[in-house]
Amino acid sequence: MAEEETTREGARTKSPEEVRPRGQASLAQMIIIGAIASALGIALGLIINWFPTPASTQAKKIDTLYDVLIIVSVPVFVLVTVVVLFSVWKFRQRPGEELADGPPIHGNTRLEVIWTAIPAIVLVALCTYAYVTLTDIEEAKAGEQRITVIGQQFAWTFEYPQGAGKQPLRSNQLYLKENQPVQFIVKSRDVIHDFWVPAFRMKIDAVPGITTSYRITPNRRGNYDVVCAELCGLGHALMRQTAHVVTPSAYDAWVKKLTAPPAASPGGGAPDGKTLFTQGNGQSTACGACHTLADAGTSASTGPDLDTGLKGKDAAFIKQSIIDPDAVVTQGYNKGIMPNNFGQTLSAAEQDALVSYLQKATGG
Ligand code: CUA
Repeated sequence: MAEEETTREGARTKSPEEVRPRGQASLAQMIIIGAIASALGIALGLIINWFPTPASTQAKKIDTLYDVLIIVSVPVFVLVTVVVLFSVWKFRQRPGEELADGPPIHGNTRLEVIWTAIPAIVLVALCTYAYVTLTDIEEAKAGEQRITVIGQQFAWTFEYPQGAGKQPLRSNQLYLKENQPVQFIVKSRDVIHDFWVPAFRMKIDAVPGITTSYRITPNRRGNYDVVCAELCGLGHALMRQTAHVVTPSAYDAWVKKLTAPPAASPGGGAPDGKTLFTQGNGQSTACGACHTLADAGTSASTGPDLDTGLKGKDAAFIKQSIIDPDAVVTQGYNKGIMPNNFGQTLSAAEQDALVSYLQKATGG
């Protein structure tokens, strides 16, 4: 108090060094405020639930890394902020000080060495820890399953190898065995997408022309969102599917169910409409990735529900809906979302097979 009085009255006559507070008390105040703010900041940073429930072994390690980063970086942020705000308050210009100048400063070598060395040590330590974590979560595991993930406007297709000499199983559903390490081989058929399952904490771009990949070991049963994390066109926000992490026996049952209806025989013969609907043909996205159809057992909602949308429609209308999807758009849905290249990616025979299957399945 006394010091402030002196300051206000004596600014014009006293030298700046006498006017300004001398520091020791201010420093102590600042350290106390900083320590309290850091403790609160760290507590808050750790209490907030930043991510969805972790569902892979990688997720746990990434979350721990994140927590360590919060513990280290919050005090740095608080330190800088407290020093700035404290200085603005403590050393502000008071009435009568308009012409006063601060004390001359010639630098402080010891301080400069300290504030260069400490951040350098902190940075090197954090980078080393992050690098070790990255190598750890990217490590190949024995007996891992490889699943090919194909991005295409606007759905993901998954290919499951079925052993030597067999065609891979193709589906728009992602099923994973609990505790089975898996490597995703990620590709794109058109533009850049990004394959992201937040619960697994891993994501990577699907880039046309190259193959990318990442590994995870799902360790928690449940259903998790599969999200496209790269703006890829009008349907980007709808490019969402589900990752099902199930027991090995439930996985085998799912594979059995998927392979039960004989797929279009590779050696020729008429294409099977239902298989085309649920799996696509290798070029086209499967219809079931976006549409609900009771007969095919699909329940996606990106596009209109076909059980009601195609009910009683004739073959011509169904064919137009497939190859020229924007000609008639169901109310509540937008143009430009359904790919308009099915006329090229499906052969004439495949188009006919799909049309007659859809007509039959929707009671037309
Ligand atoms: Cu695919 Cu966004």
